[in-house]
Amino acid sequence: PISATKQALDTEPQYIDAPLSVAAAFLVLAIKDDDASLATARSVLGSTDDLIKSITVRDISHTFTCNVGIAHRVWHPLTGRPLPKELRPFKEIKGAKHTAVSTPGDLLYHIRAPSMDLVVEFEKILLEAFGDAAVPLDDVAGFRYFDGRDLLEFVDGTANPDGLALPAATIVGEEDPDYAGGSYVVIQKYLHDLAAWRALKVETQEQIIGRTKHGNTELPDAPAPDQKSHKTLCTITDAQGEHDILRDNMPFATPGRGEYGTYFIGYSRYLWVIEKMLEHMFIGDPPPLHDRVLDFSKAMTGVVFFAPARPLLADLGD
Ligand code: HEM
Repeated sequence: PISATKQALDTEPQYIDAPLSVAAAFLVLAIKDDDASLATARSVLGSTDDLIKSITVRDISHTFTCNVGIAHRVWHPLTGRPLPKELRPFKEIKGAKHTAVSTPGDLLYHIRAPSMDLVVEFEKILLEAFGDAAVPLDDVAGFRYFDGRDLLEFVDGTANPDGLALPAATIVGEEDPDYAGGSYVVIQKYLHDLAAWRALKVETQEQIIGRTKHGNTELPDAPAPDQKSHKTLCTITDAQGEHDILRDNMPFATPGRGEYGTYFIGYSRYLWVIEKMLEHMFIGDPPPLHDRVLDFSKAMTGVVFFAPARPLLADLGD
């Protein structure tokens, strides 16, 4: 039993299974390549737990969480370890009409909190700790919209796995024992053309998403070879059955600048599953029938990270 407990501790995941929150932030950093900056970054990553605790202890609800992802480019310089099996850069996907762009990013901080003050306080302490070693590339504050809807006004996150299916879909296991407890993370920042979306009939919007708008019930899959809905294009099955991922999408907006978007974030045990979803969305299944959500949503960023088990992060500080 003691060795079983030790093994569980060695592979303890980050807060992958934390629920959607009222407030969130997606902070993408670049790390400078000189030795001093890398050493600082290692030490900040190593103290992730302490940084989180300094906020959690002040949050009576104890629901503040933060996950850290490390990208391909800095994996070896920061950890000194071989790459997790599937860790590679975000592969640009060029469809006939829409492109999933690949953009820079070395570290991702995915922060979830019951209120924005905790998010800001954490980011402030974190960036002070990095000092000149890190350059923020993007920092998006997400908020909870009515009913857990995205800004296309559909309830977002319904088909997410739960219970024991959640770790089974998101946490690396025996297929890559050195990195068991970790999770692949993909982010994409989408901006919506809300005027064009709102000009559609609700029935058309429902066909595009694959669910009803008001009641959030699933619509039947379109018969092949017709245009598939977003829901159907993102359903990935192989001999083992259906492969789920966990999505913690959040709306974000700056109305004064006309910016309304969805920050997509997906956690998966297998990176290829998310890559396959993106291929279906951008190239089409069958091509060239791309996901019509993309006619109203433009991908501005795209980065792949690996969120290692907590002990691996902690070790970086030594
Ligand atoms: C389902 C919105 C991008 C993967 C859904 C649903 C909505 C939605 C409303 C239906 C409810 C639900 O099950 O959550 C959006 C928006 C996006 C976006 C607004 C960006 C503009 C993506 C991307 C991926 C993805 C980039 C994967 C790479 C999925 C999956 C499902 C889903 C796996 C569940 C399919 C099922 O029913 O099994 N999305 N999504 N989504 N989406 Fe997205």
